Amino acid sequence: MGDWTRRDVLKSGFVASLGALALPRLASLVPSPFLAAGRERLLLDAGWRFHLGHADDLTKDFNFGNEERGEFGKVGGFFDVSDKDFDVSGWGAVDLPHDWAVELPFENAERLVAYGCKPLGREYPATSIGWYRRVFDIPASDLGRRITVEFDGVFRDALVAVNGHFLGRNLSGYAPFEVDITDVAQYGGPNVLVVRVDATQNEGWFYEGAGIYRHVWLSKTAPLHVAHWGTFVTSELHAGNAVLTVRTEVENEGDRPQTCRVGSTIRDGIGRQVAVQRSLPARIGPGGSHVFIQTIPVSHPRLWSPDTPELYQLETDVMAGTTVVDSYPTSFGIRSIRFDPNEGFYLNGKRVELKGTCNHQDHAGVGSALPDRLQSYRIGRLKAMGSNAYRTSHNPPTPELLDACDRLGMLVLDETRMFSDSEEGRSQLERLIRRDRNHPSVFCWSIANEEWWVQGNETGTRIAQAMREHAHRLDPSRPVSAGMDSRYTPGQGITLGLDVQGFNYQREDLDAFHRNFPTRPAMGSETASTYSTRGIYANDPAKGYVSAYDVNRPDYGATAEQWWSFFATRRWLAGGFVWTGFDYRGEPSPYAWPCISSHFGILDTCGFPKDNFFYYQSWWSDQPVLHLFPHWNWPGREGQELEVWCHSNLERVELLLNGRSLGEQVVARNSHASWRVPYQPGKLEARGSRGGPGVLTVMRETTGPAKTIVLTPDRPRINADGEDVAVIEVHTVDAEGRPVPVADHLLSFDVSGNGRLIGLGNGDPSSHEADKGMTRRLFNGLAQAIVQSGREAGSLRVVASSPGLESATLTIECHPARPRASA
Ligand code: GAL
Repeated sequence: MGDWTRRDVLKSGFVASLGALALPRLASLVPSPFLAAGRERLLLDAGWRFHLGHADDLTKDFNFGNEERGEFGKVGGFFDVSDKDFDVSGWGAVDLPHDWAVELPFENAERLVAYGCKPLGREYPATSIGWYRRVFDIPASDLGRRITVEFDGVFRDALVAVNGHFLGRNLSGYAPFEVDITDVAQYGGPNVLVVRVDATQNEGWFYEGAGIYRHVWLSKTAPLHVAHWGTFVTSELHAGNAVLTVRTEVENEGDRPQTCRVGSTIRDGIGRQVAVQRSLPARIGPGGSHVFIQTIPVSHPRLWSPDTPELYQLETDVMAGTTVVDSYPTSFGIRSIRFDPNEGFYLNGKRVELKGTCNHQDHAGVGSALPDRLQSYRIGRLKAMGSNAYRTSHNPPTPELLDACDRLGMLVLDETRMFSDSEEGRSQLERLIRRDRNHPSVFCWSIANEEWWVQGNETGTRIAQAMREHAHRLDPSRPVSAGMDSRYTPGQGITLGLDVQGFNYQREDLDAFHRNFPTRPAMGSETASTYSTRGIYANDPAKGYVSAYDVNRPDYGATAEQWWSFFATRRWLAGGFVWTGFDYRGEPSPYAWPCISSHFGILDTCGFPKDNFFYYQSWWSDQPVLHLFPHWNWPGREGQELEVWCHSNLERVELLLNGRSLGEQVVARNSHASWRVPYQPGKLEARGSRGGPGVLTVMRETTGPAKTIVLTPDRPRINADGEDVAVIEVHTVDAEGRPVPVADHLLSFDVSGNGRLIGLGNGDPSSHEADKGMTRRLFNGLAQAIVQSGREAGSLRVVASSPGLESATLTIECHPARPRASA
């Protein structure tokens, strides 16, 4: 099985990969009942109807479970809501992704504190069940194809029916799943898809959202097709060249045996064909499958890394005779990874320190239902800090997060939710790995986090070993890790089933672990848990705010400076993951109500940086950094000493107040500079230098009162595809155009034109304002508005106003864009 030549290609009719030669695909030349249809993957996000159900009251739960009926008694009548004439006039119209929890009011109840104070759970039957209904057509010409509905993630316990047929139940709120609707579909007519979602139970100890909060797809293939997540590309590097191993699983869901081949075409990031190869034929019986294995050399590949996120595309064609019956795209990268017990982590043969953050998945304004673009926005913020790694704590992420990490360059520690070798646990792990194993960003699987009951004992060892073996069978190319905390003795229990030890939090016994287990590589799977509230400089338990100086932490945690200086000086540790990159809903430690969000983030829930952002940027990025805080608006504090800090990676920083020097300091590596300064309004200035004269200067000025609102979008142009978003920063300036850091005005928003407002936030961990409202206060000078395009090209107008302030008008251009193919 050698490389294909152009002649081979033409002789065999395999032209799927010849875009570069501008030949027509064979597919368009050979008539075939399968080919007429080909593979389609249609987005099923728009046009849903939604209604809350009831966990305890049949009449409010659309009669679900009525004994007379017996939902499971006979096939075909599952859910009253499935009836094609069911009246949905009282139901809301929603597009996915959708999180109904974000729209619920905040409740002050002890049990809800960790989960973001939204009324979900046994005590809240009226708000814990959600019904979704979507009607879509399937043309008569689809008869004979395999048709599935794929769910990227539903929180949680979803019962799925199509045309009154129960098709499946999925418990996990994070693992993707699919249902095959081929047999129950109505060909040439409308089909009714109903999902009953039960968010009563939690899977974590943080805000998890509720509903169909990720995409849904309608997928259609020929009976002979690439299996779901059926491709897997691994690479080995030798002297600057790569050898790819491409595994392709083909399924025959038809009623006759089929003989087929697989054609694999590799393209680089700009679409140039770099390799093409056809497999030997294999015969696959009805209901059977076959894994084709191809070895494909690629000379001088461009390697993927956080600094060079080079991607390749695999185009897989399944050929029955001369007919291409399926084409399947796979994005992948070429790179090598290795852990070393003494040297940490190696990527493409170079040591890379993991400068990582752990994150949950929610964002201001939208809860856990993030439009895809927000994933890139968030990863972009972390990259700007110099971060190169992301842990999907503590659950499988949405695929678009990994796409963003592949594209922008961010290593990923990809985590499953359930530490278990039960059928459910294995299935969740398997779905995670099969779905994610082609992402070059994913460098390691995480199978557990702080499993208190078993992490230090033999049960833990056995489960971990079984899961690791399962993971290695599905993906021999990546190691397996887990986050373990101080409630076990290092080196026991789960450790024995891991390839890489993950430590949650810096502990004195880390060095002892390395001495006692010198062959075990390790990283900080979770570190820091530093508390801070953006723009706050003194703890305020009544309001639920924590000062943003790098001083507040739980007893098990560490400040940014403590953990990083510890890890940065131990080469055997591969680096670590800060708890957390972004604030998230729930876990408002160290306080509770009125606080509803965590304070652990280096950035707040909107992605606005707190001061610690600049600590990390100083020691993680290559750019010169000079950040001075606090702000200099302290009326009434004249003459009182304030603590002034500077995060900088320059050698020396001189501080001046109103032109008078307060002294110069040398900034020690991984540290910061600080002064105590009697407050006097005016100009506080830091001058940083490296070697010679000044390199950077920053100023904090006492501002006047806010006068004018300013709206700044992350991008002035977005796509008119009904999905893209602009993330708008809102602040005010005084009469001299200086941003006012303490402004807290209540702003009203008006959005008109081709789009809509989908969420508001301000990073205030104690705000109970509605995410989906039309008003929001500034919190320490900032707020955020997220607007989404419609499908019409044109412009979108955002007006922000507040009594006594000059309002702001922003126009976002929505460019013509082809929406994704939808059902
Ligand atoms: C860890 C846990 C995280 C989060 C964090 C808060 O122990 O793994 O999920 O709860 O504590 O500090």
